[in-house]
Parts: sequence; structure tokens; C-alpha cells
Amino acid sequence: MKRIAVFTSGGDAPGMNACIRAVVRTAIYNNIEIYGIMRGYEGMIKGRIHRMESKSVSNILQTGGTILKSARSKEFITHEGRKKAYQQLKHFDIDGLIAIGGDGTFTGAKVFHEEFGMPTVGCPGTIDNDIYGTDYTIGYDTAVNTALEAIDKIRDTADSHNRVFFVEVMGRDSGYIAIQSGIGGGAEIVMVPETETTIEQVIDTLQKGKLNHKASSIVIVAEGDEEGNAAEIAEKVKTATNGLDIRVTTLGHIQRGGTPTARDRILASRMGIGAVEGLLAGKSNVMAGVENNQLVYTSFDDAINKQKPIQDDLIKMVEVLSI
Ligand code: F6P
Repeated sequence: MKRIAVFTSGGDAPGMNACIRAVVRTAIYNNIEIYGIMRGYEGMIKGRIHRMESKSVSNILQTGGTILKSARSKEFITHEGRKKAYQQLKHFDIDGLIAIGGDGTFTGAKVFHEEFGMPTVGCPGTIDNDIYGTDYTIGYDTAVNTALEAIDKIRDTADSHNRVFFVEVMGRDSGYIAIQSGIGGGAEIVMVPETETTIEQVIDTLQKGKLNHKASSIVIVAEGDEEGNAAEIAEKVKTATNGLDIRVTTLGHIQRGGTPTARDRILASRMGIGAVEGLLAGKSNVMAGVENNQLVYTSFDDAINKQKPIQDDLIKMVEVLSI
């Protein structure tokens, strides 16, 4: 292997730049030429591929976003699109790929490998933490801390006005951001797609809180919860109760930006090194993850398809600690 390329794809996540830096420098350290592909699969199809040097990744370790930009490519979903991408890679003599992204990115890489045999190793980069084969994904820790900072601020105003706040956090179909920011922020209720929480249960808990003279209550709603989004749930609770002063805040994309935490920088750097070393050792169609503080490789198949459930004790913690 002489020449490899790196790209970021799907939703950006804080720490992706730290990962790009690690990939670029590990490749150069091993005397491999490294190329950057702009805007994920979209840029691959269009041949937006350029040589990277050690200096190309100076001073990016601490920045959010991705210097390689990101996109969700519709064209790459088609065989024709993937063929164009392969031709571009061949034109640049690329022998292997490092894909930084989430399950959509890995699904694309898996099909691409099956069709064209391009060796690819992935690094899990998504704030959602919904990838099997790694305890944490790049960007998740930063997103949880961003959500937590917002929840702490909401608590100040909620307490001052004796209000109930419904705070919606991201996560697509996963409740990881919700559960950890909820526990860290002392939420009274956390609603996640992984477990059912009915409107009646929410009302019951809020009313108990009122009887216990709680000054405020915070309900964290994961955006993928089966009861709907925070605004819809708040409306249902409002209609069924009297005397609860309710407000809704949706945190949205602020959870995707910002300076990566130390944990994310280190995790991303470790995965970036692991991905290049794996590729050079002949691994392909796998993701470099970290489980129990050990670098492990998991097939794209498992990373995409296997479930990573939220531990039951975390769900129980909210109930115990919010009395
Ligand atoms: O996968 C990351 C994520 O931020 C999810 O939490 C969210 O559902 C989605 O991306 C939002 O996507 P977009 O930025 O395309 O609106």
C-alpha cells in the first residue's frame, strides 16, 4: 500500500479533525502518501481529492467541524455514482480508504468494498454514539457536555419560575445523549427510544415532584422518542394537567459544534492511528473502535447492524436520583 485517502461523511462531530490529523500523521510516519477527499462520497465522485502533508493538519486538533467538510451523498447510493467514485480513486492511484463517519458512511463503504474491492477501515464519528463495536464514538462526549451546559442554564431559570422544562436533545434513533446528559443534569425524567415512557408516567412523576415541593422539573426528550418530539409531548402533558407551567427548548445543532473535549480528542487520535495501522496490516471492511480501553476492530456489518443497548441501570438511576 503506497497511497491512501481519508474523508469525513454524514453528520459532522467534534473530534473529527483530531481524527483526520491522526490519520494523516500516522500515514506519513509510515511513509505512505496521504490524500484528503472533500465532502465525503460527494467529493469522491467529483474527484475533489488532494495531497495532504503533515502541515495540512497543523492546529486543527482543538477545532470542531471537519476541515474535509461533510455531505450526505444521494449519488453514491446508486451503482453508477459508486462506479464514478471508484474511477476517480483509480485515477489518483488510491490503494485504500479511511472513512470517518456513522452508520450511513459505513453502509456506503461496505457496499463499495463489495463491488470494487477497495480496502477500507472506518473510524466511528457521530455525536449519536449509536455504533456497535466501540464504547464511545467521536463527538459524543463533547455533545453530552454541550447539552449538559445548556441543561444547567435551563435549570437556573426553571428553578426561579417553578417551571417544568421539556428539553429535546439529538441522537436520531438513539437515547445515549439523552440518558447521559439527563443523569449529569439531574433530570427528573429521561425519555429515550430504547424504553417506553408513557405520557401518564410523565404526568405522574411531575405531579409527585409538585407534591414533594420540587422547585422545578426537567424532562429530557431524545429526538427519536416514540411519544413524539419535546413540543408534542409537552402539549399532551399540558392538556392533561392543570397548574403546571411548562416550557420547551430544543437544543438542535449546537450539539454538533464546538471544541472537542479531551476525551474526544484522545479517542479520535487513537482511532485514527488504529485505522491506518489496521489498513496497513491488511484489514478491510472493519471499523477501529475502543472497547474497555482497548483498540478493537469490528466488521462494518456488525458495527451497522448490531444493537448497542443503553444499560438498564442508567435508566433506573434517573428514577432513583430524581425523587
Ligand atoms: O447523526 C447526527 C445527527 O446530528 C443526529 O443526531 C440528527 O438526527 C441528525 O444528525 C441531523 O441531521 P442534519 O444535520 O442532516 O439535519
